[in-house]
Order: sequence, then structure tokens, then C-alpha cells
Amino acid sequence: MPGDESWHSAVADEPVVPPASFVEQANVADADVRENFEREHPACWERAADLLDWSTDYDTVLTEDGPPFRWFEGGRLNASYNCVDRHLDERKNQVALTWEGRLGESRSYSYLDLYREVNEFAAALRGLGVEEDDIVTLYMPVVPELPVAMLACARIGAPHSVVFAGFSADALATRMEDADSEYLVTCDGYYRRGAPVHQKNKADNAAMALDDGVEATVVVDRLGDDTPLADDEYDYGELVTEHRGETVEPVERDATDQLFLIYTSGTTGEPTGVRHTTGGYLSYAAWTSHAVLDIKPEDTHWCSADIGWITGHSYTVYGPLALGTTTMLYEGTPDHPEKDRVWELIERNAVDVFYTAPTAIRAFMKWGEEHPGSHDLSSLRLLGTVGEPINPRAWKWYYTHIGDEDCPVVDTWWQTETGGMMVSTLPAVDDMKPGSAGQPLPGVDARVVDIDGEPVEPGETGYLALTGPWPGMPLSMVEHEDWFAEHASVVPDLSDYDWAYFTEDSATVDEDGYITVLGRVDDVINVSGHRFGTMEIESAIADVSGVAEAAVVSGPHDLKGQAVYAYVSATEEDEGALRERIAGAVEDAIGPIAVPDVVVFTSELPKTRSGKIMRRLLEDIANGDDLGDTSALRNPEVVGELESALPDRG
Ligand code: WT7
Repeated sequence: MPGDESWHSAVADEPVVPPASFVEQANVADADVRENFEREHPACWERAADLLDWSTDYDTVLTEDGPPFRWFEGGRLNASYNCVDRHLDERKNQVALTWEGRLGESRSYSYLDLYREVNEFAAALRGLGVEEDDIVTLYMPVVPELPVAMLACARIGAPHSVVFAGFSADALATRMEDADSEYLVTCDGYYRRGAPVHQKNKADNAAMALDDGVEATVVVDRLGDDTPLADDEYDYGELVTEHRGETVEPVERDATDQLFLIYTSGTTGEPTGVRHTTGGYLSYAAWTSHAVLDIKPEDTHWCSADIGWITGHSYTVYGPLALGTTTMLYEGTPDHPEKDRVWELIERNAVDVFYTAPTAIRAFMKWGEEHPGSHDLSSLRLLGTVGEPINPRAWKWYYTHIGDEDCPVVDTWWQTETGGMMVSTLPAVDDMKPGSAGQPLPGVDARVVDIDGEPVEPGETGYLALTGPWPGMPLSMVEHEDWFAEHASVVPDLSDYDWAYFTEDSATVDEDGYITVLGRVDDVINVSGHRFGTMEIESAIADVSGVAEAAVVSGPHDLKGQAVYAYVSATEEDEGALRERIAGAVEDAIGPIAVPDVVVFTSELPKTRSGKIMRRLLEDIANGDDLGDTSALRNPEVVGELESALPDRG
């Protein structure tokens, strides 16, 4: 493993101190918060549970005879009550959801509006035969009916399984089959860059592929057409009207009962269902929204992730609504109709907290600072990122051009499995180090270990493991462990811990305990016996001026075993000069050994519909392997371009 200083220079930077104006008003500003959590473990987590209303108090914070661990056992609550009903006294007329549609339309729901529609739809679901613990699949773009349906399911104790709207019919069928889900809520279609996508056709095809079909399908009218409906299909609007004014008593759920199911991609490519709990998950989503995103009830919060992913579940829907804030939903894309769309929305809605992905930030950089520059972004108080490592140059651009050097930036590391943020700075407590996520959050036991499970020395690279339970842990974590032991290629030996979960990420840790996540372990390249995180090389390349985005994978090499392949989309024409600057930057940041052997320029990198670069595909292209299924790509047309741009390996 590379242990020399040069390895870290890609992320090393002067720490940035939280702005005083932010610290003064922050939800969590206690410098001892980490020590206090550690000393009071596990009672420290009462702080999270106290953010919720419980219909029956829990007996124990954590039942420690696990795994499986049980959080807040004996406690009973309802998530829909916590996200809606309990806010009515204080803020029934405050906006709960504000929605900006793809065609420029907008709609708002006050907490009272939300209460009414959640109740009416809960009554409708009951009327269709949905019972407690039945899984309801939701297959919709970001429209208000999606969170309404999630909360209606939560109200009657029926776990939802949201399937990202951009997934294919096959993907939907696989997930419904796996979940044994007989109820579906979808829409007729939606607009994508101005053109309609026929969602209902995909849902129909999925239903045909299911052995037992679908018991009942509810269709939201998004396109305004007359979609013909079969006997077991119901119009959302008609159902809600039929149940106008009805209320449904929120079903008391055990803290450990399942709130929802969400599928995520594993190493094998088979989707894995992750089951989150009612008490632990909701407490954790609320706590991290409070402590890390610093959300207040009077805020307008915008998490730009699609609700189809865990980020949208935790930080568009459950966390913000549990705290009684205004959460903003955006159906569109960031560059439609114009490249200033995001900034126009922030200005118009006076957004306080904005949470997005590094990929988006790098696109904003590429489009130019004149777009945010032409809008008043002074309502912003805090900025966040999630999903991928953020390279220091993008971090600084975000901090400077969006936050005006006056908003803390939280780089939050977590996963579908963790339910909420795990590693991040606390925005009023910790200095920020651009490129490094920060320390484990209070009460979170995350560490970087070597292959034998021993914590690494500061500056060394290792594996990121979670070595203690946290309230947001899913019911299925134990199953995942078994699965992982069978399938993974590299697994650190964690048998000395009472319990541990390997995240599949590699990371470094510095002398202050700040964790820099490098990427998934199978994205580590071994060149001449030296290991390099592809993310580390990418970060160095992404920092080169003239580079818009870069993805690094391993490819074949006669002498070195593996070679570093870099795929680059550029904003500069002169490829020769750029090639030299890239080589220079990687050499400076890491060392000559990591300089890419092959740099392929491309108009765009292949991306999944959620915006993640598909590195596995790039690796297959580099290796001349069979590309397999490329249907998850948002831009399949780039594959041909990439293949023909590769040098002849003869
Ligand atoms: C993987 C989890 C967390 C919700 C969205 C993704 C990567 C996530 C960061 C970050 C570096 C990050 C990791 C992780 N990741 N956040 N701040 N810095 N890497 O959820 O699809 O379950 O993916 O995303 O590799 O393991 P997911």
C-alpha cells in the first residue's frame, strides 16, 4: 500500500473554519458532542428518539444481545403521524411540500393539505385491500403523489418499495417479485426533457412478467391524457375524491417493524433489498437532518436526489418532514430549460439548505459560474454533498460560487444500507477539509482497518468498516453480511470485533481522524504491486483546468499487470496540452506510477440514470470484455464512441 506523503497531496489542503454566523444559530454547536455520545453510549441515542413522538415509550435504547440489534425496543410509533399529524397544532398552514414540475408548473401542500391527502389515500389503499405488512410498490417520478403515497403506506403499516421511475419494466418486475409485492402505484407517464415517457406501458409489461400479476394498480394522471384503465386499475384522483374527508387512525408500529424496503445494486449486479425500521431509521433520519443539515422548521430544504434513491427517502421525505420543515421536490433536470435552472429555483423558493451530488457540482462548474452568478443565492445557509468523493476543486467551487464562502459544506458519506449519514463534519463544530468527508458522526463507530482488521496508521490506506450498531441500521444487515462473505473479492478480517460491517469502500484517515473515502474496494487498481484508489486518481485529474469529468479504471498491461485508464470529458480543445497537464497533475498528486497509461477523451462519460459514472462498463471496455447489459445507462450512445477511441492494443 502506498504510504508516502505524495499519496495524500490530492486531498491535503488548509482546513476551512465554519463561518461564525452559522455557528451562532446551529442546531448542534457543542464542541464536546462526540465525547458526550461516546461516554453515554447507547443512551446518547435518546437525543435522536426524542425528536419523534412515540405512542408507547421504548423500554431499552439498544438491545445489546445482537446481532440482530434491536433499537428502541418496546417503543411504538407511526411514521406518518410523526411526519404530518403532529405538526398540525403549530403549523397547519405552513408549506410542507413545494413541488416544481418539469414543465415549469408548481404546486404546494400545507401540512393540513398533506394530512388530508395522506389520510384519503391511506383510506383508498385500505379499500383496495392493502393490509398491514403488505408491500406496496411505488413507481413514479418526483411528483407530490409519491411522498403522499409513501406516508399513506406508513400510516397503515404497509411497507413501501419505491422503484426509481427510470428503471425498466424488467427491473420493476424483478423487484416486485423479490418483494412479493402485489400492489403498485404508478403514473401514466411523465416528461423527460420535454418529451413524454410512457410509464404505464412499462408498468403493464412488468405486470405481465409477474407470475401472479398485480392485485391492484393505482395510476396518477401526470400527462393529462385519458389513459384507459382495466378493472383492477384505479385512477389516483378518483380514489382520493371518493375518500374525500376520510381519516385513518395511524397504525401503531413497533420500533423494529419495517417502514420500507429499498433495492440497491450489489457487486453481482443482482438488486439487494434493504429493509429499514420504523423507530431506528426515522430517529436517525431526523437526527442527521437536525445535526448535519441543520434543518429548522422554518427552513426550505432542497435535496436534489430523486426520491427513488435512499437519499430522497431520508433527506427529501422522512428527515425534513419529521422535523416539520418545508421540503422542496423538483421533477426536472438541472439544465432544462436553461443551465441556471437550479439557481433560479433556489432564488425563487428562498432555499436555506441545498444537498446535491458531486457529479452535479462538476456539471455546474463546466457550465460556468455566470449561471449561479446571475441569481441571488443569499438565502442559502448550508450546502451538502453525497454519493461520491468530491474533489477539492469542485468542493471549493461549491463553497465559493454557491455558498459565497459563508455556508459550511458538509460532505456526507453513507450508503443505502446505513439509512442516514455516517461520516461527515458537524457543520458548526468541525473544520472542513476539502476532499475529506470528516470524522464519524457522534455515536458512530466507523474506522479504517487493514486486511487483518487492525486500524491503520494515519496516512495509510485501508478498508472502511462500521464496528458498532447505529439506529439507522437496516433489518437486513445480517443477511447482507452473509451474502457479502460469499461474494466479495476482498474482505478484511473483522472477526475480532463483537460485530462489524464492511462497507466495501477503501479510505484513508488523517491524524485528526478525518476519513477520506477513496472508492469501492473493487475500484482499487494494482499497478506493479502498488495500490491506487481510482477515485484518488480521478480527483487529481478532475482538478486539472480544462477537465470537466474523469473516470479511472484498470485496464490490461503487459508489464505492470494492470494499467491506469482514464476517460476524460474536457472543456478544452487542445488534447495534447491537456494530456500533459493530466500526467503532470497525477504525478504531482500521487507519483509517476499512477500516471494514466491511456487517456481517452470522450464527449460524455457513461452514466447510470442516477448520475453515477458506470466505472464497471469503462473497465470492461478497457479490457475488451463483453459489455453485458447496458440498459441501466442514461446515455448508451457513448459506448460506441468510447470503444472506437481506445488505442489499438494489438
Ligand atoms: C456508496 C453508497 C449515500 C446515498 C447515496 C449513495 C459512495 C457515498 C460518499 C461520499 C465518497 C461516497 C460510497 C458508498 N459514497 N457518499 N460523501 N464520499 N463516497 O448510496 O448507492 O448505497 O452508494 O456511495 O462508495 O459506499 P449508495
